Amino acid sequence: MKLLSTFKLGALDMPNRMVMAPMTRNRAPQAVPTEMMATYYAQRASAGLIITEATQVTPQGQGYPATPGIHTEEQIEGWKQITDAVHAAGGRIFLQLWHVGRISHSSFHGGELPVAPSAIRPDGQGFTANGEMVPFETPRALKTDEVVGVIEQFRHGAACARKAGFDGVEVHGANGYLLDQFLQSGTNNRTDRYGGSLENRMRLMLEVTDAVIHEWGRDRVGVRLSPGGSFNDMHDDNPHETWGALAERLSIRNLAYVHVIENEISDGTTASALVRERYDGTLVVCGGYDRESGEEALQNGRADLIGYARYFLANPDLPERFERNAPLNEWDESTFYGGGAEGYIDYPKLSEVPA
Ligand SMILES: Cc1cc2nc3c(=O)[nH]c(=O)nc-3n(C[C@H](O)[C@H](O)[C@H](O)COP(=O)(O)O)c2cc1C
Repeated sequence: MKLLSTFKLGALDMPNRMVMAPMTRNRAPQAVPTEMMATYYAQRASAGLIITEATQVTPQGQGYPATPGIHTEEQIEGWKQITDAVHAAGGRIFLQLWHVGRISHSSFHGGELPVAPSAIRPDGQGFTANGEMVPFETPRALKTDEVVGVIEQFRHGAACARKAGFDGVEVHGANGYLLDQFLQSGTNNRTDRYGGSLENRMRLMLEVTDAVIHEWGRDRVGVRLSPGGSFNDMHDDNPHETWGALAERLSIRNLAYVHVIENEISDGTTASALVRERYDGTLVVCGGYDRESGEEALQNGRADLIGYARYFLANPDLPERFERNAPLNEWDESTFYGGGAEGYIDYPKLSEVPA
């Protein structure tokens, strides 16, 4: 199977083409990574590449309880035990760099409002710092000099990730978080150089990517996008134009990869096809793939690597299971977010399943 064939990803040699997609698990109290997280990630070290859960680059970038950060010495130390454990188990691991922007609540920020490109309230409910669901607040628009500060926060997070021993980083430009909020027309009505024209809406994503490349080198940086995605109340007036242009800008940067969350764009084109058309480099696609559809996407050249989220959550030895065409553990949604070992580090490997 092509899924199980080797791949050269930038500076890394991957033993297979299966990427463990980023998954928030809310098991880092006080935003500091734990020993149990090291167990969880090391169990999944046979993935061609692990991408960690989204990790805030600043306290301002947090919007869910118990998500880890990458901006303090204590967090770097916490992550170090994870990268060590994954490497000792023979794996490769990138950190996903995150800022939630408006998908947050004032209780995370000492009573100050969450920040965003513009003061546009997301429809729906979000979390408070102690885990209650409440209607979203109207965020405060960042001043221009603060936007420049966000670039520095991402650069600093990327530098901390190096100290923590990661193999690279993924910029979270998807799912309605800060960079996506700047990109999409429905959340950005700024009139400075970070809003208005498409060129201006792309600017923050690209400047952050360049700052992160400066820390890591282009062959150890990926960017995740969700073209046409509406999660977190997102909307763009012209998805083809927006992500087409962005794909071109990323293409010339020669990154390790672009990671696309699969979606159907308005007129029936898929997100991955839209990006593939304008982007030359390594493409990871994710979202609803299984063994057969992932293999097919590789065989017909729609993608170079396949991201699996929930299958990896429930099957620490997913590549081996695909290789043997073995049955898969089912995931338990009730333990996705928060809690302890249950539904986290207790999914059995094949060798641990009673015959
Ligand atoms: C529990 C859970 C947490 C997730 N957290 C993140 C995240 O932190 N960052 C991100 O980019 N996507 C996140 N996602 C989205 C997944 O990476 C992936 O795009 C989605 O689950 C579809 O892939 P799948 O069908 O293989 O599960 C999460 C998904 C799940 C199920």
